[in-house]
Amino acid sequence: MPYRTRLCGEFDAAQIGDVVDASGWTARLRDHGGLVFVDLRDRTGVVQLVIDPEHAPAALAVAQATRVESVLHARGRVVARAEGTANPNLPTGAIEILVDDLEELAPSDPLPFQLDDEGVDESLRIRHRALDLRRDRMLRNLRVRTQVTGIIRDYLEERGFWELETPILTKSTPEGARDFVVPARLHPGSVYALPQSPQLFKQLYMMAGLERYYQIARCFRDEAQRADRQLEFTQLDVEMSFVEREDVLDLAEGLYCRIWKEVLGVDLPRPFPRMPHAEAMLRYGSDKPDLRYGLEIADVSEIVRDSGFAVFQGAVASGGVVRALACPGAAGLSRKELNELAEFAKEWGGKGLAYLLVDESGEIRSPIAKFLSEDELAGVLAATGAQPGDAVFLAADAVPVVVRVLGALRPHLAERFALADPDGWSFLFVVDFPLFGWDEDEGRWVAEHHMFTAPRREDEDRIESDPGSVLSEAYDLVINGSEIASGSIRINRPDLQERVFRTVGFSAEEAEERFGFLLRALRYGAPPHGGIAPGIDRTVMLLTGTDSIRDVIAFPKIAGGHDPLTDAPSPAADAQWRDLGLPIPPAHFIAQELELLAEPVSLLNQRLVGVL
Ligand code: AMO
Ligand code: AMP
Repeated sequence: MPYRTRLCGEFDAAQIGDVVDASGWTARLRDHGGLVFVDLRDRTGVVQLVIDPEHAPAALAVAQATRVESVLHARGRVVARAEGTANPNLPTGAIEILVDDLEELAPSDPLPFQLDDEGVDESLRIRHRALDLRRDRMLRNLRVRTQVTGIIRDYLEERGFWELETPILTKSTPEGARDFVVPARLHPGSVYALPQSPQLFKQLYMMAGLERYYQIARCFRDEAQRADRQLEFTQLDVEMSFVEREDVLDLAEGLYCRIWKEVLGVDLPRPFPRMPHAEAMLRYGSDKPDLRYGLEIADVSEIVRDSGFAVFQGAVASGGVVRALACPGAAGLSRKELNELAEFAKEWGGKGLAYLLVDESGEIRSPIAKFLSEDELAGVLAATGAQPGDAVFLAADAVPVVVRVLGALRPHLAERFALADPDGWSFLFVVDFPLFGWDEDEGRWVAEHHMFTAPRREDEDRIESDPGSVLSEAYDLVINGSEIASGSIRINRPDLQERVFRTVGFSAEEAEERFGFLLRALRYGAPPHGGIAPGIDRTVMLLTGTDSIRDVIAFPKIAGGHDPLTDAPSPAADAQWRDLGLPIPPAHFIAQELELLAEPVSLLNQRLVGVL
């Protein structure tokens, strides 16, 4: 007897009269006295089984003994639903299967949570992930994931890209995070690093003359997790030879247009705007602005520099700036809300947040209005484009502080006033990033993207004399205010690569020790090359409208890098430490001391690790 004639969601009126087999999970069981109804579910949908005790008494006994989420197999006849009981919202809603035989293929215990309960503790959900992933929403997210990787493969194969792998046990491929390391048993004291990205290997592929590479690559970064950040995540990693920036951006643009069209039916306008990094910081206070709403920042330093407001005057006199943005509809904010916004500014390092409320008649209300002349007020309104009903917010300080405060305020206000169209899309390439940034803590220049990114040709000669002024060939794809992809044109000459290494503080020996394999390859003829790496998880988050990366990853980690499903990371056994030539960590020693308790050491150790 076959398990099924077709999948649950694929039954319809065309089979009325047929004897069919159906298998799936018991989504719902309803005992209506005379009749028992079962909603049988698989990933395609739900079909209704009807068990009539007179017609199939044995099947009734099976149905009454089973529980929700058990796996059933039914054989029966497809019949039209009775007048008035059809469900037009369901593809299978016109029919049901009148059951002859029913068998339970696998029972389910009582559930730890209901699948339609959205309030379940996440670690419990992940602990029972095979159950949790049965939720419609989760299956849909995974469906989009596989759709996206399918489109990627089609698109890139059509364009001559080769899908190739790169090592997981390797040497550090730094992207600015901490490495995960794996102790090497055969080389006591040495470690492999897990790749933060395939960056150096994809460059080696180009140096090998492969022309076009891609990989759906797992990357590992030991950094704090966030709503859009996991310790291990997936990138579409792409690299191509003999290209300039626009070639890579054009490729990425075409790919995203295809994904949005095929998954969402949305036609994205091309080309996506390109915005220099400096402009993004000035106008939006962010290197990943969401352009679904305005709230554009205006520099009003020149307008208010001689005003009677000491804060503004002082900021400009000491080399800082005063910048402002107008928020539509915010003139009605209460004193309390305005104070909260000033507190918000302080959380971002500001000293306060000045405001002008423009009421419907154009009258300005503000504690600082009395310090500003008519002209100065009019100047600020004009510069920010404020209209009656708007509020203008002003921050005065050193440039980085003002950028940070207003950059944080913008999305905050957009959310408070629902300014972003939830169905809208803002695609943007941010370009011309600085090559280096000054790291205060380490007191040295660091690469803004990574150390293999090329400077703009016209800026090359300032690498040593004025590193902070050098712009790079790096770019980001920003969608609705999230960084979705990063990439760059790479350095393809060893002398230039060595100069960049020197600028970020590597001696020739250190550079050789860490990146000798790259330098070696660069010395034998590297083509001009560049690429990009979109985050697959973040892309799927946007497509599915979820705000947690854990909802688009089948088996994610939660806070502290813990995996509630497998309980990883878990303590290593003594023998493993010994094999690796590593000292047994203290918790383990304590466990051994306590062996008297006659408990297996591994168990005791687990408990101790839990306590410590
Ligand atoms: P970058 O480090 O910017 O660039 O990463 C590229 C994209 O990967 C995604 N991403 C992440 N997603 C989830 N969790 C994380 N912890 C995480 N970190 C990054 C983001 C990001 O835009 N080798 C370069 C690319 C290149 O130059 O070609 C790189 O890895 O969507
Ligand atoms: P104060 O003079 O500190 O009472 O502040 C008067 C107003 O100016 C308050 O609304 C403060 O939030 C605001 N304010 C104070 N410092 C700054 C600043 N650096 N930039 C913008 N507004 C500020």
